Amino acid sequence: MKIDATRLNARLDLLGQVGAVEGQGRTRLALTEEDRLGRKLVSMWMRETGAEVVIDSIGNIHCVLRGQSDDAPIMTGSHIDTVRRAGALDGCYGVVAGIEVIAAIVKARLKPRKTLVVTAFTNEEGVRYTPDLLGSRVMTKEMSLSDALHVVSTDGKRFGEELDRIGYAGEASPWEFLPSAFVELHIEQGPVLDAKGLAIGVVEGVQGYSWWHVAVEGRANHAGTTPMALRLDAGTAAMELIRDITKRSADSLTPAVATIGTFALEPNSINVVPGKASFTIDMRDPYIQTLARAEADLRDAVAALRDEGFKVTLNCTSRNDPVPFSSSLCERIENNAQARSLSSMRIVSGASHDAQMMARVCPTAMIFVPSREGVSHNPREFSTPAQLATGADVLLDTLWQLVEA
Ligand code: GLV
Ligand code: MN
Ligand code: MN
Repeated sequence: MKIDATRLNARLDLLGQVGAVEGQGRTRLALTEEDRLGRKLVSMWMRETGAEVVIDSIGNIHCVLRGQSDDAPIMTGSHIDTVRRAGALDGCYGVVAGIEVIAAIVKARLKPRKTLVVTAFTNEEGVRYTPDLLGSRVMTKEMSLSDALHVVSTDGKRFGEELDRIGYAGEASPWEFLPSAFVELHIEQGPVLDAKGLAIGVVEGVQGYSWWHVAVEGRANHAGTTPMALRLDAGTAAMELIRDITKRSADSLTPAVATIGTFALEPNSINVVPGKASFTIDMRDPYIQTLARAEADLRDAVAALRDEGFKVTLNCTSRNDPVPFSSSLCERIENNAQARSLSSMRIVSGASHDAQMMARVCPTAMIFVPSREGVSHNPREFSTPAQLATGADVLLDTLWQLVEA
């Protein structure tokens, strides 16, 4: 069997046009109108395979190719929501390739022994709704359905209401297709495979991360009349904390990273000492001990600001320990790459994925293909059509073995 490489790439281009703005990539935040249009397109392609399409109550869309046995299904999938100004491949590749796997099996007139499910998970990115990975978080009972439906977006809208509004509050249980194995195909989003000229990354696990929302409150005052010694400047206090936290990651002996992706000052005027600074921190590290130490240092830095008279609120909005994947699934993927004469290496994912949630409930692994210059979460994200087709073929081989096992 082989993936229809032309259709895979054509569909990725098409999906990439949903929510696209000239020169700014595409923005398809979870449960927006753009997400609805993307879902509609993907559901149509799922239906075209002849398989069943089922939507669950957290909005995950499942393409279900029924097997001959009642065994728990094998699942693949990823997400089609995006960050702001995204590339066309992050998440979409895994969903569209999964659909092509089912299409290839149907075309070969084969009926798998086990049921095969391709899932487009809701709100993987966590940009509009935090925490991230909401669809897989609910499926794996890391979060209750009711808590998830009550999460409020950055623009003040309840998850459950928005899911209803876009028409994707399904009736199926999010636990209906709990699989016995999960394999996610994704672009690497980092520079390693591209730099080494390798075709396939066999993903052994995902690094740990924690997300924080921080608000520092000081005292707004006149920029001209308030002596430096008498200020309680929330802006500079926040910036000093940020410099310490990011420098700490830069100096770490581990590949720790820290990112301030959002930052806002109030009242945000040139001639007013800022009374409030609000920002987010995304800290990641493959090692649990150093990640925990970075978190402790953040708490200490906040305590020091409080001692200086600032009021600081610190909320952890999402957190995951580093996740190891199944070594037997990794071996299987490695062997399948080798069988197609493809070069590969073991790799740890720097980005987070629904697979890290699924790893809590079943043997899980991921397959990476190279990202040009390691660029992602950026419109310039790119992998060649041939690289994308190659990864999808390895996914096909792996899933077919699992459904037949
Ligand atoms: C998702 O892409 C993440 O790693 O934040
Ligand atoms: Mn992704
Ligand atoms: Mn992403």
